[in-house]
Amino acid sequence: MNNNIKRIGVFTSGGDAPGMNAGIRAVVRTATYHGIEVVGIRRGYQGMIDNDFIELKTRSVANIIQLGGTMLKTARCEEFRSVEGRTKAANNLRKRKIDGLVCIGGNGSYTGAMKLYEEHQIPTMGIPGTIDNDLFGTDFTIGYDTAINTAVDAIDKIRDTAGSHNRVFMVEVMGRDSGFIAMAVGISGGAEAIFIPEDTNEMELLLSHFKNASRRNKSFSIVVVAEGDRQGGALAIQEQLEKEFPDLDVRTTILGHIQRGGSPTARDRVLASQLGYEAVVGLLNGINSKAVGIVAGEVVHTDFIEAIGKSKNIEPRLIEMAKILSH
Ligand code: F6P
Repeated sequence: MNNNIKRIGVFTSGGDAPGMNAGIRAVVRTATYHGIEVVGIRRGYQGMIDNDFIELKTRSVANIIQLGGTMLKTARCEEFRSVEGRTKAANNLRKRKIDGLVCIGGNGSYTGAMKLYEEHQIPTMGIPGTIDNDLFGTDFTIGYDTAINTAVDAIDKIRDTAGSHNRVFMVEVMGRDSGFIAMAVGISGGAEAIFIPEDTNEMELLLSHFKNASRRNKSFSIVVVAEGDRQGGALAIQEQLEKEFPDLDVRTTILGHIQRGGSPTARDRVLASQLGYEAVVGLLNGINSKAVGIVAGEVVHTDFIEAIGKSKNIEPRLIEMAKILSH
């Protein structure tokens, strides 16, 4: 263990994700077990700049494992993008005698942590916390499992009304530039079509699917659309469908931030606990500027630069399978 580290800071940054609290709990409890003090930094990098710190003890993180959101709050911080902002943050951390950090967040959060080390030598370990599952260096990110279960639950409800009215329902899900959420939700929601940014010919397929009048008269259809899809989102696809087939009764539901809330699934709680534990152990063993993840059941450490720069791809066989199963 690295004896230089006596006090660490933990923070959540970027969009919140269910399971972040379980991650904070694991960080605090692993650190205190090893005799390390923990400071919680509220509102991510913004709190670092504003001196928004709280001491965290084992009991401070009791009864939070089941809660969505983040007890430390989160923010997307413009000021931290500047050298001056980061210097202010580093000075505040030094005043608090914080000699290591654990950052729970996505790409933008890792970029900030990397710069903080380059400019001020404050070692950081990253934990992937985002519903988008778009981070390289881990099979799953914290919050993804809860988000897809929330979306599938919504689709199951939409099916009831879609069937009663013989309608086509477009359901738009989050994911920023990636289609992981849409792919999982589309497959498990039994969608007729799944629009993701990684795949380009879905519009063509959907139009040819509905050319067949018997398919248009089918009791209902569910189409899942990733918000980052190149067609411009669910409403744009609805417009194209209505133009081509005026007899179709189409509705769009944009699920939005409902996907970011709610109690984390057991899978997200376990993942967040593992990653929180491994991040502290890594930091105490002198590992720095790396994101911790789990790939094929193994704990891996990925350099921030790689985690930020490399993209994680959706398995092409999964895309192929989804097309076949939706026929
Ligand atoms: O990264 C998580 C995410 O929910 C994305 O899926 C979405 O595009 C974005 O955040 C929304 O951000 P905000 O809550 O800032 O509008």
